[in-house]
Amino acid sequence: MARLWCYFFFTTLLFQQLRFCICWGKQEQVPTPPLPVLPLPTYSQLKWQQREIIMFLHFGVNTFSDREWGTGHENPAIFNPTRLNTTQWATVAAEAGISLMILTAKHHDGFCLWPSKYTQHSVISSPWQGGKGDVVQEFVNAATAQGIDVGIYLSPWDRHDSRYGHDLLYNEYYLAQLQELLNKYENVREIWFDGAKDPKTQNVSYYFQDWFSMVKELQSSINIFSDAGPDVRWVGDEKGSAGYTCWSTINRTSLSIGSPDITQYINTGDPKGTDWLPAECDVSIRTGWFWHKSESPKKLSDLLDIYYSSVGRNCVLLLNVPPNTTGLISDIDAHRLKEFRSAINTIFNQNLAEGCYVKVSSQRGGNEGGFGPENMLDSDHLWSYWAPSEQGDEKDHWIEIWANDGTLRFNVIRIQEAIGLGQRIKRHEIYVDGQVIIQGTTVGYKRLHRLDGDVRARVVRIRIRESRGVPLVSSIGLHFDPFWHSKFTVT
Ligand SMILES: *[C@@H]1O[C@H](CO)[C@@H](O)[C@H](O)[C@H]1NC(C)=O
Ligand SMILES: *[C@@H]1O[C@H](CO)[C@@H](O)[C@H](O)[C@H]1NC(C)=O
Ligand SMILES: *[C@@H]1O[C@H](CO)[C@@H](O)[C@H](O)[C@H]1NC(C)=O
Ligand SMILES: *[C@@H]1O[C@H](CO)[C@@H](O)[C@H](O)[C@H]1NC(C)=O
Repeated sequence: MARLWCYFFFTTLLFQQLRFCICWGKQEQVPTPPLPVLPLPTYSQLKWQQREIIMFLHFGVNTFSDREWGTGHENPAIFNPTRLNTTQWATVAAEAGISLMILTAKHHDGFCLWPSKYTQHSVISSPWQGGKGDVVQEFVNAATAQGIDVGIYLSPWDRHDSRYGHDLLYNEYYLAQLQELLNKYENVREIWFDGAKDPKTQNVSYYFQDWFSMVKELQSSINIFSDAGPDVRWVGDEKGSAGYTCWSTINRTSLSIGSPDITQYINTGDPKGTDWLPAECDVSIRTGWFWHKSESPKKLSDLLDIYYSSVGRNCVLLLNVPPNTTGLISDIDAHRLKEFRSAINTIFNQNLAEGCYVKVSSQRGGNEGGFGPENMLDSDHLWSYWAPSEQGDEKDHWIEIWANDGTLRFNVIRIQEAIGLGQRIKRHEIYVDGQVIIQGTTVGYKRLHRLDGDVRARVVRIRIRESRGVPLVSSIGLHFDPFWHSKFTVT
């Protein structure tokens, strides 16, 4: 009897222990992040996306000949900036909050801003610094000194070099220059390729695969830009305007560099795309890419329109600010750029949603799961996010922003996805006090909706109607843009 009792006692104890272990284990299980929805960005692509605005600098013989496309027959002696100061360029960029500057090391005219050993058509043959200068080196030094990263454009089309038109010889020449640049100048973060060719010799081939492989071999953290990536794609126009729907995903195999047929596809991307290839919107602060005495910078309101249709549509803005013949960025351009940055800060430094009560349809792991609405109001716009529950078949995912007292006055709505886990949202709607005011599509890293006139509201609801997997929202904002005067259109 005692033995039986003892047996019973120990079995019960064991069972209790086991139960305790199971429960204890359960209590300690912190909810995990959800699985990603492929494809995903690379580390370098994520860093690039967060830059938001990049500066392009078109500088070379065209600056002095007052042309956009040089002929290739320019006398190198015309390249003579009297007070070239790359520190001034970098200071202008730094004051505009820009973290990457891309310089035209060579444009279509073939003139090289660094002393290439493969050609005489460069700074070597110019009077600038007695032919001993190196603009690319000075540019890299000045940017680096201010903590700004550098990028390079090396035009494939070369109207000067006699090898152009002989495929093997020219591709070898081009590749030699790429090696020269990427060996000499370190930490190049972006390299820019276009597919431009001489209209008369469209039969020339650029050996992009050889070039891209060499680039990646020499600098592993670099992003390669072209119509077809592989890291960053062109947006398909030079107006700084992405598609209203803009996916960072696309099928790379459908893209061929320089083909006019792809401009629509690259403008919007592809929700079914198998490659992560986000778009960059290149546009100049002036009419032309090179500095011309007769041109002046765009108005602030135009720059803000561009910001909303590029950065506000999940893209990065590549804004060209060309140095003048003195070798400096003109004061009016520098001033406009500063105004632009200051306007962006004015609009976005204050987030009215921060003082609000934010309610969500559900949250992963329950109230203490770590995926609550507060994650949309912190400063981490990548890895801290609201995730709805994946349990049950709840498909109606929404966020509500309630004014704590009185009404909210705003005219910009900002939504950001946690793109580190893939771009997901296909369609969303925005309601103001119960009324639909926006029928939106993609969100991506950042979506800005500029509203028609001021809105006064007690509650704003963001409803996600369709997404690839559950939506993950990293940040939301309600802002007031005092520079925006209603044009009776919603952008
Ligand atoms: C170059 O520009 C910087 C920044 O504007 C300025 O501080 C510096 O004095 C300039 N250098 C020369 C040699 O003019
Ligand atoms: C391209 O066409 C031109 C004119 O027909 C010819 O002279 C040249 O050799 C061709 N180049 C290549 C790379 O095929
Ligand atoms: C892109 O590729 C995916 C997967 O192969 C395919 O389903 C989709 O239709 C492609 N997109 C286009 C526009 O062809
Ligand atoms: C270039 O810009 C600098 C700085 O604003 C200015 O001092 C200089 O006069 C400009 N050069 C020309 C040719 O306009």
